[in-house]
Amino acid sequence: MKIPELKLNTGAKIPQIGFGLWQNTDEQECKSAVKWALEAGFRHFDTAQIYGNEQFLGDALKESGVPREELFITTKIWNDNMIGTRLIPSFEESLKKLQMDYVDLLLLHFPVTERRDGAWRKMEQIYSSGKAKAIGVSNYTLKHLKEMPGQFNVTPAANQVEMSVVLQQPELVEYCKANGIVVEAYTPLVEGQFFDDPILKEIAQKHGKSVPQIMLRWCIDYGVVALTKSTHKDRIQQNIDIFDFKLDEEDMKKLKALDKGYRVNWNPTNVP
Ligand SMILES: NC(=O)c1ccc[n+]([C@@H]2O[C@H](COP(=O)([O-])OP(=O)(O)OC[C@H]3O[C@@H](n4cnc5c(N)ncnc54)[C@H](OP(=O)(O)O)[C@@H]3O)[C@@H](O)[C@H]2O)c1
Repeated sequence: MKIPELKLNTGAKIPQIGFGLWQNTDEQECKSAVKWALEAGFRHFDTAQIYGNEQFLGDALKESGVPREELFITTKIWNDNMIGTRLIPSFEESLKKLQMDYVDLLLLHFPVTERRDGAWRKMEQIYSSGKAKAIGVSNYTLKHLKEMPGQFNVTPAANQVEMSVVLQQPELVEYCKANGIVVEAYTPLVEGQFFDDPILKEIAQKHGKSVPQIMLRWCIDYGVVALTKSTHKDRIQQNIDIFDFKLDEEDMKKLKALDKGYRVNWNPTNVP
């Protein structure tokens, strides 16, 4: 199975599907999920300091014996660590837990007002050190992104945001594409709230796939990275089994009509 990749502004490639680890705090459950994800073909893993499982991910990856260069690993700097003296030591701690010399992508988790500019300068230092092969942001709206050009030396390589068929954010995607920023979609399954939607069910039936598979495949055909999480082996396998079909123009048109700006996670829109 060949997993499509997108090119980051560093020249490196990011697999278009990634295995998320949010809310995966039980050690055994987390390690089993990572093992099943590797067996199913995932090579891209998305964790964060606040998820509390960098160590479990590191242990499970080490145990698997999959060579480091085959993996794409992201972690994120938590809000409390976005302060002057804390950011770099907290990142060193993340590397230690992950048992790695570098991460492929390091993100600022949230656009914390009055911290994000100073934090980005520290991120640039980490990038120069080579310990993060790429740096990016998360939960940045257009406003937050548009503040950056001219202020900094490094343009974010990625912006990880909530995105799904019901939250398509076309202006944000257009801006990111025009500026070489890869968009990563989190919570693409919208907590299962639209699994009974008739349009999604019709498209799923047409392709002989499940509704979650259509929701994930939409991310791929929309040109963004899909991040998805599960602790169930069968769902993990199902979630990566989306590369033997493609949504056509008619499907994409129908899915476009499902966009209602519907969000289930924290909303960064009004963060000054
Ligand atoms: N940057 C941020 O602020 C931020 C915020 C949220 C998420 N994220 C990242 O994005 C990743 C994905 O987001 P998410 O965790 O919300 O993911 P998601 O994949 O949209 O949803 C995960 C939920 O859907 C269930 N599920 C997964 N596959 C399924 C399937 N095939 N059929 C039915 N149910 C299924 C899972 O349950 P089971 O586990 O019980 O199977 C879990 O409850 C996160 O893990 C994290 O890495 C980042």
